[in-house]
Amino acid sequence: MGILHGIKKLNWLFLSMNRHSFTINGKSENINGDDLEAVAQRNDIQDYKSLMITTRLAYSNNRCTSLLYNLIKLNYQTMNLEEVLNFRRSVRNYITDKDLDTEKVKHCIELATLAPNSSNMQLWEFYHITDRELINKMAHASLSQPTISTANQLVVFVTRQDLHRRREKQNIEFERENIMRNSPPESHNRRIKAREVYYNFMIPFLYARFFGLLGLFRKLLTVSVSIFRPMFIDSSEADQRAVLHKSCALAAQTFMIAMANEGYDTCPVEGFDSRRVKKLLKLPISAEINMIISCGYRNGNKGIWGERFRVPFEEVYKKL
Ligand SMILES: Cc1cc2nc3c(=O)[nH]c(=O)nc-3n(C[C@H](O)[C@H](O)[C@H](O)COP(=O)(O)O)c2cc1C
Repeated sequence: MGILHGIKKLNWLFLSMNRHSFTINGKSENINGDDLEAVAQRNDIQDYKSLMITTRLAYSNNRCTSLLYNLIKLNYQTMNLEEVLNFRRSVRNYITDKDLDTEKVKHCIELATLAPNSSNMQLWEFYHITDRELINKMAHASLSQPTISTANQLVVFVTRQDLHRRREKQNIEFERENIMRNSPPESHNRRIKAREVYYNFMIPFLYARFFGLLGLFRKLLTVSVSIFRPMFIDSSEADQRAVLHKSCALAAQTFMIAMANEGYDTCPVEGFDSRRVKKLLKLPISAEINMIISCGYRNGNKGIWGERFRVPFEEVYKKL
């Protein structure tokens, strides 16, 4: 099996494709996601790569999603990045009696922490919910959305601006050692000093909050300076909250891609009552819910609401 088998198969596979069917060995086969297993068996296709090449042309339409889904179901492994991105859909209806592997989901959360984030402050937390009773309560707080009520597990992405002092300290401690290990000795003092100024003065200055007033002061100061030279001017307290949510959303997307890579389905959710969710998770007032991500196995095409819609690429792509 494996690659050799795939290459052998490709020698005799003659494939052509349109939106609804493809041809294997001169026989027309329907691309109906649910029938794919039967198609594969009828044609003795046991290799993921062969089947992927037969179906590659379908990427531009919705069918690729169900094809990819069935490939995963059939244990044809290892999608490339483009396949993973095509596989990921926002799923609103999961198979309720099929469990995800909690350790694998946890590993995907760990991979999410590799996301780029502002000043490496990592002001995020991830609440992994596997308890059915708590999922039901979360579904109630999430306006009874089926993507939450049918989910097998949930991961709540949370921003924690209140932890900034702790993170500043952790960054300085790491950077001191990092510089000692990886920089030329003559640069040690200068580089450590620069990191200390950044994490002891600049970052605390940007992250400090006091009912909007500190933000107002920062805004006036930075906008005044920007009259004379380029300056970071998005410095109000609301701007700073956006900074945290941007980084946290990157972690959330990294998580969803990692999950898709495992053949697991997800849906990002912002339709919830944040006060109730925070109460359920016993979070402090200053914490904010970035998004909830429901996780499970998609229930066929039921939970993806048909084809994927994107506006024409030319409408959003601007080459300068
Ligand atoms: C920040 C964010 C919040 C979302 N909130 C919800 C939600 O509350 N309920 C829901 O059903 N889908 C929600 N979605 C999913 C979007 O509707 C979905 O991503 C979009 O329709 C594109 O579909 P696709 O993800 O399958 O490509 C959310 C997506 C994002 C990025």
